[in-house]
Amino acid sequence: MLSVVVLISGSGSNLRALLEAANNPLNGIRILAVGADNPADGLAHAELFGIPTFVVAPQSFSSREVWGEVLLENIQHFEPDLVVLAGFMKILPASFVAALSPNLINTHPSLLPAFPGAHAVRDAIAAGAKTTGVTIHIVDEGVDTGPHIAQSVVAVSPEDDELTLHERIKSVERNLLVQTVIDIAAKKINLSAIER
Ligand code: GAR
Repeated sequence: MLSVVVLISGSGSNLRALLEAANNPLNGIRILAVGADNPADGLAHAELFGIPTFVVAPQSFSSREVWGEVLLENIQHFEPDLVVLAGFMKILPASFVAALSPNLINTHPSLLPAFPGAHAVRDAIAAGAKTTGVTIHIVDEGVDTGPHIAQSVVAVSPEDDELTLHERIKSVERNLLVQTVIDIAAKKINLSAIER
């Protein structure tokens, strides 16, 4: 059984998919806890599934480094095998990344290295991209620069706005994220063996 802590900042649709997948014992994953950097709407999914939650807000601490240390302590309290950033919108201090790497993965709504950062979907539309997608990657000290684990392509339609495109990306993203975590649990993906 692969034990997982998930971090979110927003609505938690990817978290929801992970929680549902964890309900099937054959998938071999167990969600230990869900953390957030704010009282995010998505925490309600965890509560519905009876999973403990914690909020560690950056503005409650004197520096980003101290915030990162407290966030890390909250995660390590649960002793997870894997930490999944599922729509976690804060940049993590290098010491946090070093403590968990390579067992720290992120899902991002673009085909990295295209459109890194907080506005990937908006940026893809603004650039006139014909295709975009999803990347699941190991987190390193950079912003969306870590080694890729899996990608899926999503076509951009001329009628798309940020909302419609992001919803279509998310419907692909949650399947790719769930499958990636299941494959890590089944040892079909070995994070330590991925080139960094
Ligand atoms: C997801 O599309 C995720 O890839 C994105 O936020 C969304 C969260 O949706 N993350 C980033 O943009 C990180 N740079 P959700 O809260 O409904 O799962």
